Amino acid sequence: MSPAGWEDDQPRVVLVTGAARGLGACIASRFYDRGYRVAVTDLDEEAAVKTAAALDPTGSSAVGLGLDARDKAAFVRVLADLVARWGAVHVLVNNAGLSKVEALMDITPDSFGAVVSANLDGTFLGCQVLGAYFADRGYGRIVNIASLAGQNGGTATGAHYASAKGGVITLTKVFARELGPQGVTVNAISPGPQELPSVRESVDPDRLAQIEASIPVRRLGRPEFIADMAVLLAADTADTVTGACWDANGGLYLR
Ligand SMILES: NC(=O)c1ccc[n+]([C@@H]2O[C@H](COP(=O)([O-])OP(=O)(O)OC[C@H]3O[C@@H](n4cnc5c(N)ncnc54)[C@H](O)[C@@H]3O)[C@@H](O)[C@H]2O)c1
Repeated sequence: MSPAGWEDDQPRVVLVTGAARGLGACIASRFYDRGYRVAVTDLDEEAAVKTAAALDPTGSSAVGLGLDARDKAAFVRVLADLVARWGAVHVLVNNAGLSKVEALMDITPDSFGAVVSANLDGTFLGCQVLGAYFADRGYGRIVNIASLAGQNGGTATGAHYASAKGGVITLTKVFARELGPQGVTVNAISPGPQELPSVRESVDPDRLAQIEASIPVRRLGRPEFIADMAVLLAADTADTVTGACWDANGGLYLR
């Protein structure tokens, strides 16, 4: 029997934030390959449209939309668009994030606020808006992309990023407790450093080689695996996993 809020004859719909490039684009592509209709959303609307068109040029199963994750009204607008377009939304992946490599004592209040809001406000607002919608329908899956930095205080990144990601893990628990009785699960994935452009762009090659050598499995993570974790957490059979934080850090942080 299908869970409440489930239309057997319709493909499921996933909304991914920050999905124009990097891990978000990989997650969107993995869901698309598994038969989902995918909303590729990003601060950079033009890039989101291009990423969605690369998945499905017809636009019938993938759409690119502008969504600033710090803006609650934008979540409300995109949700209404998707419901009008495809009938429902079943899964939210809060992936949008911003990381900066800055020395602790050099972080200005503005920089601290900007990095925290890009990583934490989006998760809060996405969970609030889509969480309320899912709760009304009696079914939903939320996957929040945290980070190893939120657990170990960060390696290459700054204190703003690490503290925001710690907040993402905490928010995941709070929303999981609130929404569990309504058939909505909320989980986090906590990746260590990944083989992604953002890592290559922000860490110099010598430092990156040091970081790789310090990882017990001796390599950066594979974004496709993180995407597969998100797909698994979004399954209807994943209904007893909630408030969890799934680690994928190559053994950098053991608990
Ligand atoms: N790269 C890694 O090794 C790594 C490790 C752990 C966690 N993560 C997390 O994975 C997620 C994706 O990381 P990435 O490496 O692909 O980063 P990235 O910088 O390549 O991509 C981030 C995307 O988010 C978008 N974005 C930024 N601010 C936004 C906002 N306010 N609203 C909507 N979109 C916004 C950007 O435009 C960009 O397309 C982030 O949450 C990041 O913290 C990454």
